[in-house]
Amino acid sequence: MRRSKIIGWGFYVPEKVVTNFDLAEIMDTSDEWIVERTGIKERRFVEDGVGPADLAREATKKALAQAGLEPKDIDLIVLSTLNPDHFFPGSAFSLQAMFEFGEIAAIDVRGQCSGFVYSLSIADQFIKTGMYDNILVVGAEVHSLGLDYSNNGRDVTVLFGDGAGAVILGPSHDPEKGILSTHLHAQGEHLDKLCVPAPMGNRRPRISQEMIEQRLHYPKMDGRFIFRHAIQRFAEVVNEALSANGYTTADLDLFIPHQANLRITKMSGQKLGLTEEKVFSNIHKYGNTTAASIPIALCEAIEEGRIKDGNLVCLASFGSGLSWGSALIRW
Ligand code: ACO
Repeated sequence: MRRSKIIGWGFYVPEKVVTNFDLAEIMDTSDEWIVERTGIKERRFVEDGVGPADLAREATKKALAQAGLEPKDIDLIVLSTLNPDHFFPGSAFSLQAMFEFGEIAAIDVRGQCSGFVYSLSIADQFIKTGMYDNILVVGAEVHSLGLDYSNNGRDVTVLFGDGAGAVILGPSHDPEKGILSTHLHAQGEHLDKLCVPAPMGNRRPRISQEMIEQRLHYPKMDGRFIFRHAIQRFAEVVNEALSANGYTTADLDLFIPHQANLRITKMSGQKLGLTEEKVFSNIHKYGNTTAASIPIALCEAIEEGRIKDGNLVCLASFGSGLSWGSALIRW
């Protein structure tokens, strides 16, 4: 069977650093509360006028350079964002217009924090079937322009940051290496536990002054519910990936979870019986960048020498939808 393999990677975060102290100047919060509950110390915010496709462009340039490929070598774009540049069309089209890709297809994936793992899985299927060779897979988010900076939104606003990460997936020339399997799940019945209620596609008008006054255009979250489910699902979906390939957690070299909250990361690592060195975290620097968090973490893990040739690496995500998933990779 033809396997896919990550052959290029790159990430980009905006220059503007926003610390917990900066947020404490505009809402009732504190560095102590945020660090204790989430592990986040700072995050990056874009300037007005910069969208997810702009961040995706910078990450894509790096991934292409790393893979030694030109835009013309890419056969498909799969991009995930929960904050698309436009209501429609998707941001994959905005990104496609920024390079000389030719008339290749561009797919947006709406998987929130699981968006990157969902996108990787979709790209993997196209490579396995032989339909495409080189696929650009991107996670890009601009949260900062859509957060509620009043005290009503402080539980959500302190969590999120902006950024983008990209990988190029190509055919593996070694049958033992590459993406071994992907595992995707969802539970739509809980979609209201973390969502942006408006604009609504089933209302005329889709957004009204009343909805804005009710602050329905800002993210709403049941934090404790999300927290509990994340711990359960991360462990389940990592074990699912390992057992599907005849492995146990003892075989795992690195677990790269979606960066939602340091406490979730640590408790998931403990539930899996992994030592701290086997669990990657960079949430203190970037906060939760949803679809971008796993590719950014993957890039930093590679840069830090945490992933070596032949290592077994598991990417896992959990987020709004609810959605969760994993990808097991032999590097
Ligand atoms: N600063 C200070 N106080 C705050 C803040 C803040 N930013 N936000 C909430 N509080 C207050 C609350 O009002 C509450 O006050 P009260 O006791 O007087 O009522 C108190 O802090 C405790 O609030 P809780 O919500 O009970 O705090 P909790 O310990 O549950 O932590 C948190 C909240 C950090 C949000 C946690 O629930 C969490 O991390 N959940 C998971 C969230 C997550 O990962 N979401 C993203 C997932 S994925 C995706 O797809 C986007």
